[in-house]
Amino acid sequence: MDIMNVIRENGVVPVVVLHDAEHAVALADALAGGGLRCAEVTLRTPAGLEAIRRICAERPEMLTGAGTVMTVEQAEAAVKAGAQFIVTPGLNEPVMEYCIANDIPIFPGCMDTYAIEKAIAAGLRTVKFFPAEPAGGLAMLKALAAPYGDLSFMPTGGISAANLAEYIAFERILAVGGSWMCRADMIDAGNFDEIRRLSAEASDIVRTVRA
Ligand code: 3PG
Repeated sequence: MDIMNVIRENGVVPVVVLHDAEHAVALADALAGGGLRCAEVTLRTPAGLEAIRRICAERPEMLTGAGTVMTVEQAEAAVKAGAQFIVTPGLNEPVMEYCIANDIPIFPGCMDTYAIEKAIAAGLRTVKFFPAEPAGGLAMLKALAAPYGDLSFMPTGGISAANLAEYIAFERILAVGGSWMCRADMIDAGNFDEIRRLSAEASDIVRTVRA
């Protein structure tokens, strides 16, 4: 599986905050049922690691990564649990270097030229733009992207069905990240039908913009 291609094809990487690992597989099924066959499961809850383990074991066709990774130990544990990519909120150099050394796709959060140039110097071709909307949204991203011709971006933070189309239309975006289709309150309530509906809506928007 070419992970970058899978992420590009999906166009949207759901950002998951799970409080109960029992919900993990049903959540994966709801996302995939709506056409989103990847997820970034954050390690900001104690259930995150076990959720990654369950999705990877029971739904191996789903591309599953770990988010909110802050330490090399967390990255190692996530990879051991099956995570196929790593996302960090900021430019976490030890985690970035660990991932590069071990051939694990890493999307470090960058919101300025300083962080972007460190990521490029380390050899990366794609970074997360975070937090996308508070940092200036698409206008900021376009200005930031201009000097770095072959760098692509995964903007995350404040994206929803309302602004997804305009992000996806920018060709320098590999995919967007976001939690709007799988908010923690919907997962906690077991509202998987709504998660499937919102995932399908997101997939449709991506398909329509790219058609
Ligand atoms: C996060 O880390 O929570 C992500 O940036 C998701 O942001 P969102 O909830 O605004 O989509």
